[in-house]
Amino acid sequence: MVIHFKYPPGATPIDLDEAIGLIPKHISTQANLNAWEEINIVEGADWLARQNILHRLDEGLVRELHLRMFNKTWIWAGTFRKSAKSIGIDWTQIAVTLKNLLDNTAYQIKNKVMPIDELVVRFHHKLVLIHTFPNGNGRHARLIADALIVKLGGKRFSWGGNNSIATLGITRQNYLSALRAADNGDIAPLMHFARK
Ligand SMILES: Nc1ncnc2c1ncn2[C@@H]1O[C@H](COP(=O)(O)OP(=O)(O)OP(=O)(O)O)[C@@H](O)[C@H]1O
Ligand SMILES: [Mg+2]
Repeated sequence: MVIHFKYPPGATPIDLDEAIGLIPKHISTQANLNAWEEINIVEGADWLARQNILHRLDEGLVRELHLRMFNKTWIWAGTFRKSAKSIGIDWTQIAVTLKNLLDNTAYQIKNKVMPIDELVVRFHHKLVLIHTFPNGNGRHARLIADALIVKLGGKRFSWGGNNSIATLGITRQNYLSALRAADNGDIAPLMHFARK
């Protein structure tokens, strides 16, 4: 059954293909969905904190994290995107591009190719650019980046401070404009934002 969401002003619509896969059938607004997702995401975050991420930077970990973050919310949790979105690479190239990113990141860590903040922020940007999943890519890629930086001996990122990145507002605008700068080859604004 397809749920027809009523959107409060400023809410981001849920795509039709995503709405079809919604598990909790009682949810009728974006705000309810956000709250439901948040509880599920915490379970994923708890799981990730127990993983030896530095020795498991592979597709299995990336997918299992998404599954554990969204398994009570979306039937397609943990499965790759199978359609085009406004952002993201050609979906048929996701597996190979993701493997390349993960292998490259493991190499950069092992060989200390750059400072850890830059390494992890670049990884975050490339991961959201791939846009591995139909939804949840931003939250998933921020969580992995946080886990990675902590395991590398750094502090968790602040991602623009206390204001929620998920809701429309200045923090989200700053995040998106920093990502666009990174799209154009300038990683500095995203590194700054992550530590703001
Ligand atoms: N120009 C861009 N370049 C790279 N990544 C982008 C760009 N614009 C948006 N993104 C990423 O895409 C994410 C949105 O994708 P998606 O809806 O799958 O994730 P989400 O976790 O549901 O979203 P959100 O972060 O909004 O809660 C943003 O959070 C951001 O990380
Ligand atoms: Mg989304």
